[in-house]
Amino acid sequence: MPQSIVRNVEPDELGGLPKNLQDWTSGFIELPGTKNVLSSSAFDPAGCFVAVDKGSIVGCVAVTNLPRKNWMVIRYLAAKRALSRVYAVEKLLSRALQYVETKKPEFLRATTPSMQPYVDVYKSFAFKPIRRDFRITWDLTGTPEQPNKLVEIREVTEKTASEIAEVYVESLRPYWDWRTEEQGGEEAVTHNFRNGLKRGERWLSGHVGKDLVGFTGLIPDYYNARDARFRGTYVLPEYRGKGYGRILMNEVSNWAKTQGQHKMTVYTFSYLDSLSPGALLYIKSGGKIDSEYLQMQRA
Ligand SMILES: CC(C)(COP(=O)(O)OP(=O)(O)OC[C@H]1O[C@@H](n2cnc3c(N)ncnc32)[C@H](O)[C@@H]1OP(=O)(O)O)[C@@H](O)C(=O)NCCC(=O)NCCS
Repeated sequence: MPQSIVRNVEPDELGGLPKNLQDWTSGFIELPGTKNVLSSSAFDPAGCFVAVDKGSIVGCVAVTNLPRKNWMVIRYLAAKRALSRVYAVEKLLSRALQYVETKKPEFLRATTPSMQPYVDVYKSFAFKPIRRDFRITWDLTGTPEQPNKLVEIREVTEKTASEIAEVYVESLRPYWDWRTEEQGGEEAVTHNFRNGLKRGERWLSGHVGKDLVGFTGLIPDYYNARDARFRGTYVLPEYRGKGYGRILMNEVSNWAKTQGQHKMTVYTFSYLDSLSPGALLYIKSGGKIDSEYLQMQRA
């Protein structure tokens, strides 16, 4: 049996990894998102390792930084034909954990496609599942639904963005509190929301009378022409359970269609043994789960 060597990635090998990861995981690890992570200034190649068999790269793993000091996530543990290369997957994770030990992080978790053998290898290193993540996609090629009469829909402009930025963190509660923490706290999350608008995110807000009840957003042509990244639907806590989420989903898909989008995709989390309200809303609104991931953590 060939024994892979595990070593640090070379700078000129980084560019090829997103495509490898996409191929090795049947698309569960996507190309554009991985390219963004590997080329971002927060990414430290010192925490990225590859497995090499007979001169070819056949596996990798990366220890990445959350936007919070000493908070880390192990991701991209994957190998070509991984089921016949479990030994390489183990070696990669073991190398990543050695690196993690030198950093003494305050917080560490992992994220992986829900696939064998990755989940088992993480478990064998004492990681336990904490949450699921889904990639959910919508086919937008059908005819638009009737617009609603209950909620007034407005596109968010630079002028009206502050109104939403102010309540954005509140609209994530309580389900996304873990992520708000991972992203550096409430102020950082609010700041990111404002920046998103500057980077081409488009948002619609929903109003009933004078009240802002929720909002929903997307980035048109993000993955490819006509292939949008959906940024999610959010209803303020006091207005939940009244059907506004469903209405906003209809409105955002209609709007995406008028923007020429044929598909939209979101990543969202779910609990281990039940669907989160967001995942439920998305599935009930015609979204299809096309990939599933596990977030894992050591006790
Ligand atoms: C997800 C969210 C937008 C739902 O908004 P909402 O206005 O309460 O949703 P609706 O009232 O339109 O309900 C939508 C459907 O989901 C179901 N649902 C919503 N929350 C639920 C819950 N906690 N438990 C069970 N079902 C629930 C409803 O039964 C409804 O189904 P139906 O139309 O067949 O009756 C809201 O909970 C929220 O803002 N959560 C925080 C932000 C978030 O997680 N967004 C998505 C992640 S990107």
